Amino acid sequence: MPALLAAVWALLAVAFLAALLLWQAPTRRPGGGDGDGGGVSGFFQDLIRYGKTKRGGGRQPAWLHRLQVPKRWFTHFYVVSVLWNGFLLARLFQAECLGGSLPSWIQHMQHALSRDSQSEDTGSEHFSVLLALLLLWLHSCQRLAECLWTSVFSNGVIHIVQYCFGLGYYVVLGSTLLCQVPTSSRKGKKLSVHVCWYHVVGVVMYIWASLHQHRCLVILAGLRKSKSGSVVSLNHSVPFGDWFERVSCPHYFAELLIYVSMAVVLGFHNVTWWCVVIYVLFNQALAAALCHEFYQEHFSSYPKHRKAFIPFVF
Ligand SMILES: NC(=O)c1ccc[n+]([C@@H]2O[C@H](COP(=O)([O-])OP(=O)(O)OC[C@H]3O[C@@H](n4cnc5c(N)ncnc54)[C@H](OP(=O)(O)O)[C@@H]3O)[C@@H](O)[C@H]2O)c1
Repeated sequence: MPALLAAVWALLAVAFLAALLLWQAPTRRPGGGDGDGGGVSGFFQDLIRYGKTKRGGGRQPAWLHRLQVPKRWFTHFYVVSVLWNGFLLARLFQAECLGGSLPSWIQHMQHALSRDSQSEDTGSEHFSVLLALLLLWLHSCQRLAECLWTSVFSNGVIHIVQYCFGLGYYVVLGSTLLCQVPTSSRKGKKLSVHVCWYHVVGVVMYIWASLHQHRCLVILAGLRKSKSGSVVSLNHSVPFGDWFERVSCPHYFAELLIYVSMAVVLGFHNVTWWCVVIYVLFNQALAAALCHEFYQEHFSSYPKHRKAFIPFVF
């Protein structure tokens, strides 16, 4: 079933594209009173909105309230990711570089879900996957550190379905990467490191996007702090500086670039990972569109030239 993983990610991408198109449908407007109560529309809005873009908090039935968890629990996603993807990284490193072997259950998963390598296996693809998994793990560490020590969370909430999805997301993501190791056997051979130009380009792009993502999260946190660094407010206000001058959600744009950088590290040709990238594109586009709408509705002087997600485009 080599195409199963790609199909799963493509399906997720289509689901978020459909949600984006539904949200933009003209029947939703005007008034923007969606998501105020129960019903199918309310449930849909509950599933696509979280944090500051969530609506109708006080008017929701009590049982719906019980299905919300604090948005600061985002931290749990990255704890799971650091542990799970750290484990996968350590086992892959051991298998590729120290001549060990992967646990049998991982080998079964790989054989069930991996693609068969058609071309001669030079070992460079093994190195690419190892590097991409390292980047994913580093990204998770950075996000965990930001959740713990940079971001200032308000009392915003997310739906329990979104929370469970987020917990599973990084497990499936790392497993997807691991399954990109060609299954044509190199047993016993140690990894020979072939650094190609696309590894260098991908890593530079990853660092550049991560730096900007961090800067933007620092700017958001700064909106709630005094000059001395103590938290003085939990309100939402308009961010300025860095990529915020171009888009409302530059940290989402940076997230997309981070996933693209991994596609570059994998040598551009990994269809499964491009499906992951397209999923992140639509997922973050939806979140950015909702956030952009929030700013426009709440701040009459919101900069008109700012796009939501991708500079000059969307
Ligand atoms: N790969 C994926 O599928 C995926 C999915 C989701 C998120 N992410 C990534 O995770 C990161 C965080 O995402 P997020 O959705 O939590 O971002 P976010 O809603 O912008 O929140 C980031 C932090 O900034 C605060 N904040 C947001 N807007 C603010 C404003 N106008 N004024 C003051 N503080 C503000 C938030 O507080 P409160 O919200 O608590 O008020 C939170 O602490 C992003 O880089 C995103 O790309 C990735």
